Amino acid sequence: MRNGVNDSRIIYLDNNATTQLSPEVVEVMLPFYNEFYGNPSSLHSFGGSLKSELNKTRESIADLLGARLDLEVYFTSGATESNNAAVRGALLAQPDKKHIVISKVEHESLFQLANQLEKEGVEVSRISVDHSGQLNLEELKDSIRPDTAIVSIMYANNETGVIFPIEKIANIVKEKGVLFHTDAVQAMGKLSIDLKNIPIDLLSASSHKIHGPKGVGILYIRRGTRVQPLILGGEQERGRRGGTENVPAIVGLKKAAELAKTYLREGMSYIQELRDHLEQGINSQIPMAQINGRGTERLPNTTNISFEGIEGEAALLVLSELGVCVSSGSACASGKFEPSHVLRAMGIPDHMGHGSIRFSLGRYNLPEEVDFVIRELPSIVQRLRQMTPSSSKA
Ligand SMILES: Cc1ncc(COP(=O)(O)O)c(C=O)c1O
Repeated sequence: MRNGVNDSRIIYLDNNATTQLSPEVVEVMLPFYNEFYGNPSSLHSFGGSLKSELNKTRESIADLLGARLDLEVYFTSGATESNNAAVRGALLAQPDKKHIVISKVEHESLFQLANQLEKEGVEVSRISVDHSGQLNLEELKDSIRPDTAIVSIMYANNETGVIFPIEKIANIVKEKGVLFHTDAVQAMGKLSIDLKNIPIDLLSASSHKIHGPKGVGILYIRRGTRVQPLILGGEQERGRRGGTENVPAIVGLKKAAELAKTYLREGMSYIQELRDHLEQGINSQIPMAQINGRGTERLPNTTNISFEGIEGEAALLVLSELGVCVSSGSACASGKFEPSHVLRAMGIPDHMGHGSIRFSLGRYNLPEEVDFVIRELPSIVQRLRQMTPSSSKA
């Protein structure tokens, strides 16, 4: 038993995909299902008084992001919606501008959106990264044009953990007078963010990545930023996003944000030590294993490792049998696994991309769980290598 959840068989090393709800978060949410089920838009006080709960969450999020403690935070259904709302909202607000800039390593939610926008007549510049996963800032500078509606560059990469120099990027974009959006899903709660001093206009984040509930995200919109709402409907969220608010989840997010703020100060070094221990253990025992993104700044909880001569999915399935949850670096496209666009953009050869595994740690991981993986993985990789004809890996 851990945190009241009977998960003793599970070693959860997939915290960039989602996180375990904190028990404290569940506790604060329950009364808002059982007792205080009103609608914050109601005129009666049973519902209407819930507005203050929403505002308290805005304040906790603003505090976590180093933003002003007023209403610059809007609730969405998750970061996928926030990303769509930011980029489409900026285009809708500037109908004369038909060009956007993103990076080659954005999350699918932005990547797919950009592909769709291209079909709708928007020009997209995709900025490249180097072998370590770092953004080409010169290319970024050169790509911004008078008709650029928005630049959207992620804060930290979900697959490799590589952190972009977001302040530099924001300054480059703002010098050109263009809107700047960042997908900060993997950064919020793992890095100290200072929105008061970094000129970010729009920022997306998600509750379920910081031990909060699924189904709620945020879009931070700096005061005075012109974006059209994506979801029209009621006057919720000051007309920026229609739809009855998910009150229990938003209340849970408040607690999750507070816990994340404390953990950021007091616990992140613990996670980094576990991650570094995992990397050292793997590197010392498994030959031909390469840490992707090593050599540049990375999130303290993430490691993406390519094991030459294996399929990442095969290792993932064997680990899964042992109760260990990780992600592979490939995505299933048209029935076959392709190395992720992120690893390809970094110039990692496909035979290495195919063999990549992402381990993402979290606050509930224990040293003995990491030791278990270090103990089991060498023989798993060795067995898989023996099963793979070497010619097919060339
Ligand atoms: C970098 C990044 N952006 C966006 C998302 C999407 O977030 P959500 O699940 O809240 O829609 C994720 C989730 O994996 C992510 O890692």
